[in-house]
Amino acid sequence: MTQNIHSKRKFLQFLASSPLFSGLPALAAQRLNDSDYIAESAQWAVNVFDMENVAIQNWRQAHWTYISQGVDDELTLRANREGFERLNLRARRLVDLSGFNMQIELFGHTMPSPIIMAPVGGLGMAHADGDVEAARGIRATGHKMIMSTAATFGIEKITQARGEPIWYQLYPTNIWELTQGMLRRVEATGADVLFLTVDIPARNQDRMRRFDRSLDSCTDCHIPGTTFADKAMLQGLNAPRNIGSQNPSMDWEWVKRLRDSTNMKLVIKGLTLPEDAELAMTTGVDGIHVSNHGGRGDESGYATIDSLPEIVSVVQGKVPVIVDGGIRRGTDILKALALGADAVCIGRPYVWGLGAFGAQGVEKVFRILDNELEVAMKQAGTPTLADITRAAVR
Ligand code: GLV
Repeated sequence: MTQNIHSKRKFLQFLASSPLFSGLPALAAQRLNDSDYIAESAQWAVNVFDMENVAIQNWRQAHWTYISQGVDDELTLRANREGFERLNLRARRLVDLSGFNMQIELFGHTMPSPIIMAPVGGLGMAHADGDVEAARGIRATGHKMIMSTAATFGIEKITQARGEPIWYQLYPTNIWELTQGMLRRVEATGADVLFLTVDIPARNQDRMRRFDRSLDSCTDCHIPGTTFADKAMLQGLNAPRNIGSQNPSMDWEWVKRLRDSTNMKLVIKGLTLPEDAELAMTTGVDGIHVSNHGGRGDESGYATIDSLPEIVSVVQGKVPVIVDGGIRRGTDILKALALGADAVCIGRPYVWGLGAFGAQGVEKVFRILDNELEVAMKQAGTPTLADITRAAVR
C-alpha cells in the first residue's frame, strides 16, 4: 500500500508540474477523496484518518507496529471501534442553537471542549521532540494534556512547552519511594490531577513480538541495554536497572495509601466493570477513567463504550467519568457524552498527527475533533454539553 501511495503522489506531482495542467491553481485541485489520500500539510488533513495515512509513510515499521497493535487477536481493539459504529445518533430539528457552547469545567479547570490528550509513552517514536512537540501542538488549542510516566521527556520540559501545568499518568513501579519521588517532582510543576493506570498487570502483544527486528535498525533510536529505569521521569531517583513499570501487589489498600500521600486529585484509569467502579467510589477517588488501554491490555473483547453506561450507573454523577478507546470522530464523542461520560481522551489520532506534521498535526487533530463534535451536537439539537442526554443515541 505504501508503494501505491508513493506512486499516486508522484503522479499527482507530475500532473501539477506538467505544462498541460499549468492553469491549475495547485496540486490541491487534484486531491482524491479515498483512503490513499496523502495530505501535504496539516491544513489539508480533513479528518484524523488523513493524519494516519501520512504517519504510516513517515514512521519506521517497528514504531508503527508498536503503536497500532492491540493484544492477542485484537478483539478488544476492534470492539472499541465497532462499539461506536453500532450506535446510532438521533437528529433533532428546529432547536435554537444560537447559544452554542462546548466549554467544560473539569477538576477545577475550564477546558475548550470535553476532549483531553491521553497519555502515550515514548512519543519520541513519532517525532524527535516527542511529548514536547505534542505539548506545543495543544498549547495553541488550549486542551488539557496528560503525560505518561513512560514519556520521552521529563515533566518540566513538557510543562514549559504546554505553557501551563499538565496532568500526570502514573505507572507506580513496585518501589513506594520511587513512586513518591516521582510524585514530588510532578507536584513541583503545579500538576494537580494524577491518573493511576491499573489495566496492564500483564499483556500479550503478539504483533510486536513477531516483529522481525532485523528488518529495522532498532539501535538507530534505542541505546542498547536501556530499561524502564532510563525513562526521563525516573532520572535522579536511583531506580534499579531491572525496575518495571507495574506494581504486582497494587490493590485498593495501596490506592488509599497513594491517595493519602498527595494533594493531587486521583483518577483511576483503566476500569471497565461496575463492581470495580463501586470499589473505587468507596476508596474516595476523584474521578474514574473507563479505559481498556486502547485495546492494549485485556482481551475481553468488550468495548469501552459498552462499559461506560454500566459504570456511570454506579458512579451516579458523584465524580467525573472519562472514557477512551476507539474515538475517531466527533460523533463518537457525542455518543460517549450521551452515555454519561463527562469527557473523553484521544490517543492514537493525535499520535498520528504528531507523526504526520509535528505540533501542527497535533493542533489540527484537536481542531478537527472540536469541529466535528460541534457539528454532531448541532445535528443532535444539543447547544450545550448539559443538553446532551441518552436521548441523543439509539
Ligand atoms: C503503554 O502504555 C503501551 O500501551 O504501550
